[in-house]
Amino acid sequence: MATRINPSILAADFVNFERDLGRIADADLVHVDVMDNHFVPNLTFGLPMVQRVQEVSPIPLDVHLMIDDADRWAPDYAETGAFSVTFHAEAADDPVALARRIREIGSRAGIALKPGTDPEPYLELLPEFDQVLVMTVEPGFGGQKFMHEMMPKLRSVRTAAERAGLDIWLQVDGGVTLETIEVAAENGADTFVAGSSVFAGGDPADQIRMLRERAAA
Ligand code: DX5
Ligand code: ZN
Repeated sequence: MATRINPSILAADFVNFERDLGRIADADLVHVDVMDNHFVPNLTFGLPMVQRVQEVSPIPLDVHLMIDDADRWAPDYAETGAFSVTFHAEAADDPVALARRIREIGSRAGIALKPGTDPEPYLELLPEFDQVLVMTVEPGFGGQKFMHEMMPKLRSVRTAAERAGLDIWLQVDGGVTLETIEVAAENGADTFVAGSSVFAGGDPADQIRMLRERAAA
């Protein structure tokens, strides 16, 4: 199984994105956390910033929307040319219609599940999505502790995808470090979002390489 490392620029220097993006050029995708202070109790940046990051980034964008009213906004993020656009299950009135719209525009469509979200109702919708993001922290902030209790959820999504014969990317987000990446990989994750462990643990390029090795071990 391919392993993807997606550093989160939430942990980068907000006034030096271009410099920090250069430091993660060996990663697969850059994870961009959009927060609106409604869906989550924190605020980051919106469309104009994502548009600009898209223009200067050496690698494609993996946009994670932690916003209300995803039906209204997600297509605009896809229009920026983002490689993937992921919205939270609860944030869309019609997740299937929204995923179809995102795909139509040309981005991969992702659905995100918070720690408290039961994956069951979404498993039958998997063919409509290219990726599933399982949160291993409460969304809103970087630097939190990895929730090991989410491993059965990760496993259940992987099993459902395999049963349906789907080549879906299974993303894990929150508290991913050299210590936690292995257990996430063992439970079926193939795409790893890492903020603090990439940007606050020494040279980002070294961190990415070590995370990749650990995930594939
Ligand atoms: C949290 C975000 C994460 C965050 C992860 O709401 O969705 O992408 O950047 O940060 P770390 O890796 O520091 O937990
Ligand atoms: Zn995220």
